[in-house]
Amino acid sequence: MPIRTPDSTAIAEAVAALAAGALVGMPTETVYGLAGDATNAQAVARIFAAKGRPAFNPLIAHVPDLASAESEGVFDDRACALAKAFWPGPLTMVLPAQPGGTVCELARAGLPSIALRGPRHPIAQALLRAFGKPVAAPSANLSGRLSPTTAENVATDLGAHISVILDAGPSSVGVESTIVSVMPGEPVRLLRPGGIAREEIEALIGPLAAAQADHVDAPGMLASHYAPRAALRLNALDMSPGEAYLGFGPRAQAQILNLSPNGDLIEAASNLYTYLRRLDSLGAQTIAVAPIPTHGLGEAINDRLARAAAPRP
Ligand code: TXA
Ligand code: MG
Repeated sequence: MPIRTPDSTAIAEAVAALAAGALVGMPTETVYGLAGDATNAQAVARIFAAKGRPAFNPLIAHVPDLASAESEGVFDDRACALAKAFWPGPLTMVLPAQPGGTVCELARAGLPSIALRGPRHPIAQALLRAFGKPVAAPSANLSGRLSPTTAENVATDLGAHISVILDAGPSSVGVESTIVSVMPGEPVRLLRPGGIAREEIEALIGPLAAAQADHVDAPGMLASHYAPRAALRLNALDMSPGEAYLGFGPRAQAQILNLSPNGDLIEAASNLYTYLRRLDSLGAQTIAVAPIPTHGLGEAINDRLARAAAPRP
């Protein structure tokens, strides 16, 4: 079993695995990542193969801090302000790639831009600092499935492809990072809602523009994604026969699990994938989900639920 307590020995093993081009299960505060050396095209190809991604879509390069990020991406004043406010943390920025950057083209899917994230999880920080190079890491799940929030989730989907999974317990945020693009001559665009609420970003830099229609067709942006086995029925006020019900907030009707009995959207985000997995494992044909408010982390929760409920390919 490659699951390890993330002590210094296990972190050293993970660093050696990355250096050898092998893959590591990396805890972050959002979800667990399937990590490989972002400068090594073979390691990056292994990531795509392990996930069964239908195409080579661009990956996020993880770095410990702004100083290391600046050698990979071009930070303008807006990007610097965002990094200073939200890094380390669940924010990913898509920026022009630095001409001398080390992240391989395959990780960037040949694009002139690069996605950079500085996670705040102490084990991710320790791994990134010890490895000393950017780490490419998509969520450590099979393509199209729910993102993993525990080491066991990672092992279930991808254990056979991973040298070491660093087990740091459940991810605290529970949904993926917020992705914004900060490209020259363009407004800052929200490409994917996530662990940092739109309101927090807008308080710093003003209103966010929407992603462009020709935006890269990456998995997290596909209509059907983040899907459990069961079908989903959204904005459900009650449970029909044969359904499992995922509640939110104080409600009287029958429910099996409640994302947050107090109606706390941060708690709900942290429970989202775990509870969908649990209800899925009960074998229900359909999971009915209560309405979730759309402010704060509710935007990311509703985004993931809409993709999980969309018709499957
Ligand atoms: O929380 C997270 O972001 C997790 C943890 C492991 O860090 N990672 C994650 O990665 O969700 P992934 O590969 O599942 O999603 C990365 C997304 C892709 O869907 C893609 O749209 C976007 O990042 N992306 C990467 N590079 C891009 C680029 N150059 N331009 C536009 N979008 C890009
Ligand atoms: Mg993913």
